[in-house]
Amino acid sequence: ESIEKGGYEHFMLKEIFEQPRSILDSMRGRMIAESNHLMMSGIREFENKFVNANRIIIVACGTSWHAGLVAEYLIEDLARIPVEVEYASEFRYRNPILNEKDIVIAISQSGETADTLAAIELAKSKGATIFGICNVVGSSIARATDAGAYTHAGPEIGVASTKAFTAQVTVLTLIAMIIGSKRGTLETTKLHELMVELETIPSKVEEALQLNDQIIKIAEQYKDVANCIYLGRGYNFPVALEGALKLKEISYIHAEGYPAAEMKHGPIALIDEQMPVVVIATKDSSYEKVVSNVQEVKARKGKVIAIVTEGDTTIPAMADHVIEIPETSEHLMPLLSVIPLQLLSYHIAVMRGCNVDQPRNLAKSVTVE
Ligand code: G6P
Repeated sequence: ESIEKGGYEHFMLKEIFEQPRSILDSMRGRMIAESNHLMMSGIREFENKFVNANRIIIVACGTSWHAGLVAEYLIEDLARIPVEVEYASEFRYRNPILNEKDIVIAISQSGETADTLAAIELAKSKGATIFGICNVVGSSIARATDAGAYTHAGPEIGVASTKAFTAQVTVLTLIAMIIGSKRGTLETTKLHELMVELETIPSKVEEALQLNDQIIKIAEQYKDVANCIYLGRGYNFPVALEGALKLKEISYIHAEGYPAAEMKHGPIALIDEQMPVVVIATKDSSYEKVVSNVQEVKARKGKVIAIVTEGDTTIPAMADHVIEIPETSEHLMPLLSVIPLQLLSYHIAVMRGCNVDQPRNLAKSVTVE
């Protein structure tokens, strides 16, 4: 087992550090930025269906559901098709309205999640086209779908999903770009810019991983907290949910992810000098709004751990801790902003003596409902 861990103390840490490679592997052969070329065989088969889809419904569970939320922003923005993101367990039991013009995208690392599989069967019975995004080749979900694309993250052993998430987001980004360019909603210059930027992501993830030592120091200060809030807006809202999920899964600290603006409708009541608030405040279209949200937290003496874009000076002047990540397009930011959150949860869990790779009560693959 120690050989399999490749020198890392845990599979989770190894998998976090594998992300430059797993992201690259998930886009490899599917894109040539130079010639604006995108290809994904699973989509090609159903290209007309995708281009003319009424709606895209994404079904998934856990971290895969968070990747689905990122895809909602991507597909609606780039391809202008309405997207709904559903917990597979809710979708399958609520008599959803579906027809032949709908496409259902099922996302699953293991390809074995019982609720996701049942949601697929239900959608099939209503005539929808099912597209799968799985990591495990030949898995039940991969076999149950009409077409699909694999994420090439390699085996993920740690129960808390890390590299599978970024691989899913990578594949979903490619899908949004393909549909957007076919539908004419994503103009060629913008498509080109995004492709060129996507190619730089593996090396920017590498840079973000260099923050490890800095994050260990922050983890030392917060390892004993009882609660933690994660805030983000836009593309970073699903990342806030994912950051909170990672922390609760492996460290057993109660954590909540919220869209930053929703804080005033509830979570703000929890904020006092004991409450750490992780804010994803990268430079994007909602940046100014997030600055106000940080001020609201500081006014109530909350401790702010901010993830910011390199070179930012506004948020660092307000926050208690600042983690700087490289600049990128807001469409691609989740691939970078999630990295420090994975590392923060990992180190806090290790410092608390938790079983990081096999947290209590959780399973890697949930094959029963
Ligand atoms: C379990 C795992 C999570 C995973 C979720 C969905 O809860 O512990 O890490 O995100 O299932 O799994 P899937 O294999 O369908 O992505």
